[in-house]
Amino acid sequence: MKAIRIHQFGPTEDVLQYEEVPIPKPGPEELLIKVEAASLNRADLGLRSGRYRISPEDLPVIPGREFAGAITAVGADIKEFRVGERVVAQPALGGYAEYAIAKPAHTRPLPEGFDPVIAAAMPTIFLTTWFALHEDGQVKSGDQVLIQAGGSGVGIAAIQIAKHVRARVLTTAGTEEKCARLRQLGADETINYTAKDFKDEALRLTAGRGVDIVLEVVGGDVYRKSLECLAPGGRLVSIGAAAGAIPDSPPSLKEGRKASRFSITNCLTAHPEKFRQLDIFIQLVREKKFTVVIDRTFPLKEARAAQRCLEGREHFGKIVLTMV
Ligand SMILES: NC(=O)c1ccc[n+]([C@@H]2O[C@H](COP(=O)([O-])OP(=O)(O)OC[C@H]3O[C@@H](n4cnc5c(N)ncnc54)[C@H](OP(=O)(O)O)[C@@H]3O)[C@@H](O)[C@H]2O)c1
Repeated sequence: MKAIRIHQFGPTEDVLQYEEVPIPKPGPEELLIKVEAASLNRADLGLRSGRYRISPEDLPVIPGREFAGAITAVGADIKEFRVGERVVAQPALGGYAEYAIAKPAHTRPLPEGFDPVIAAAMPTIFLTTWFALHEDGQVKSGDQVLIQAGGSGVGIAAIQIAKHVRARVLTTAGTEEKCARLRQLGADETINYTAKDFKDEALRLTAGRGVDIVLEVVGGDVYRKSLECLAPGGRLVSIGAAAGAIPDSPPSLKEGRKASRFSITNCLTAHPEKFRQLDIFIQLVREKKFTVVIDRTFPLKEARAAQRCLEGREHFGKIVLTMV
């Protein structure tokens, strides 16, 4: 089969090699899936540079956190899936390939006719933002929520989830065009942080009170200034550090404010059954109550160009590799 492999870590997409490799063999508790589409995530950039969860002795490795396709082989101990069934899976690795392995706990069935490009883009963005906003953020109707990097895959999912519970959404993006698209997707207020100071704007838009929740993904100065956007009792949930460091342990804050760090990988490792929450999002997308924005697709062999596009930050929503 064709696959993208990383043999050595490096800072640019040049480390991605398009190669012929053997089709993996599923164990008794694993599924073999013919991949139709695999989505890119910011974490893929950390993986290729050796910053994310993989050590040199694990190389070579096939990146790709999540994908959709059809089951071609079912391990002997598996009862709940069958050959030919179309599924979406998030095994954390292996998706940049024509075939990939997943465990049943990381796999959910897809309804008839569900677009694999949309499906492949869904697990990380929806599960991360759902559990981060509900468990750490305790989001509820009437809350004011500031979502950093609204135009990211994660940001677009977070805006819809916050609006779903009737929160008021403020969000940031780096261009006016992204801001306009975010308002169309339901954001109440957008802040172009290249034109205005986002903290001043967040305080102005909340009449000086601050927001109840910040979903933070950028790190560094953005993290520090996001803390200053919190109202008394507000929660900052940090899920990423796209551009700067975040403290190892959250700072202690005044007047009941809290900061926490959330990882969907840690969450699903501790509670694998939470992956089933994805069924609800599949249904919501099917009913057109939620949207998955696909910026563009690339064929598998153009994975380097796809990652270059992600890193360049021109995209809005998700970038997906297709195998067919
Ligand atoms: N903790 C978890 O479990 C978890 C799971 C998934 C993702 N994440 C994190 O969530 C974030 C979004 O992920 P994603 O895959 O949706 O990413 P993405 O689509 O690549 O979006 C990242 C966005 O961040 C914005 N950004 C602002 N300042 C930036 C900077 N200095 N450098 C790079 N980007 C900057 C960019 O939009 P503008 O140019 O418009 O600002 C960029 O498009 C990432 O930090 C990722 O690591 C965390």
